[in-house]
Amino acid sequence: MKALVVGNGGREHAIAWTLLQSPNVKQVFCTPGNGGTATMTNCQNLPVAVDNFAEIARVVTENHISLVVVGPEVPLSLGIVDYLRQHNIAVFGPTKEGAQIESSKSWAKEIMNQANVPTAKSKTFTAAAAAKDYIRAEGAPIVVKADGLAAGKGVIVATTIDEAIAAVEELLGKDSGKLVIEEFLTGSEVSVLAVTDGKTIRPLSPAQDHKRIGEGDTGKNTGGMGAYSPVPLITAELMQRIEQEILQPTLEALNKKNIDYRGVLYAGLMITPAGDPKVIEFNCRFGDPETQVVLPLLDTPLEQILLACVAQKLEQQPSFKWKAGSAVCVVIASGGYPDAYEKGKAIAGTQAATQKGAIVFHAGTKLQKKQIVTDGGRVLGITAFGDNFAQAIAFAYDAVKSIQFEGMYYRRDIGHRYKQ
Ligand code: AMP
Ligand code: GLY
Repeated sequence: MKALVVGNGGREHAIAWTLLQSPNVKQVFCTPGNGGTATMTNCQNLPVAVDNFAEIARVVTENHISLVVVGPEVPLSLGIVDYLRQHNIAVFGPTKEGAQIESSKSWAKEIMNQANVPTAKSKTFTAAAAAKDYIRAEGAPIVVKADGLAAGKGVIVATTIDEAIAAVEELLGKDSGKLVIEEFLTGSEVSVLAVTDGKTIRPLSPAQDHKRIGEGDTGKNTGGMGAYSPVPLITAELMQRIEQEILQPTLEALNKKNIDYRGVLYAGLMITPAGDPKVIEFNCRFGDPETQVVLPLLDTPLEQILLACVAQKLEQQPSFKWKAGSAVCVVIASGGYPDAYEKGKAIAGTQAATQKGAIVFHAGTKLQKKQIVTDGGRVLGITAFGDNFAQAIAFAYDAVKSIQFEGMYYRRDIGHRYKQ
């Protein structure tokens, strides 16, 4: 079969790479893809924007593609799945309505409250004065969130009341005019990506992301500077609770709204000091960089799982198989990220890193006159396996040493939290 992956990040390279591990997948197309997908065997980029649905449908038909996998949240929230389904194209991802679980935090909170899913106490506001009164009454720390998609810039964790009040001004101005203000949760953050066909929901191997730019989880928030999987903190018993208390009831609540959700439901969780899982947020897609560690550990052919979701036959799939051991991904970013950074720097050493046994996933890169150059903030994700975390971390950093480009930056402490 042939598949098409929509998007151009490390997540999309990891999806394309994993699809191509299966003997049943002959070719993968990426719209628009990046330097990694441009140079991977049996993979081809097509220069089509992620929101050009008509052109995506056209290339699917022209190339006899039997499965479309949508990577990013923006085309999902714009209704790419609704459009492709109307054109009888098999597509993995939720509809526009289902994607609201990520594109509207107040809508997601409503679903969680209806389903009795454990999450931070919250209230939704449209007026600044009422929001500020609520903050004064609740005190700090407190979390202020823009309702809509904000490319990772819509959440302010305020440590003082003054900071929270400033956050109201900042976020109300920029958004749809809605804010969610919620209780500050403490504990360990874990990403549980689950796949669903709308009837059955099954978790993938849990992962932990490293969101801050600086070592020791300091500095600005980023898209994610590294990840590891599985997560020792998530025991089999805790995963069962996550399924029963969070994933199943959320799917039931979506069903009650007649939402036909076939895709990834990504639960961003806080495991509280008491050991209870609470939802920080839901996403409607694979996480990035989490996908760069989760999918390489998967031993079941990915296309089987995705096609089963699209055909609403997930229940009939045998339990997913996972490789033994651990995976760690170190993200290499452009100097300056997440603030301003330069592009167009020549990248060397990807082959040497691959020869050391690592997988080099490309994110912000492009192929320019036969040379791979930087083209974004997060440039590469270097994924390595090990029998245990210490080994996987050592292998990943050894491969990172092979990579060179001007101004490159990476955290040296990815995976450090696995012992907690
Ligand atoms: P989000 O954009 O929703 O992923 O939020 C960004 C980050 O803000 C999360 O990964 C958390 O680290 C933090 N955060 C969001 N909500 C809360 C909360 N209720 N309590 C503590 N931290 C939070
Ligand atoms: N790694 C965080 C995200 O994908 O949203």
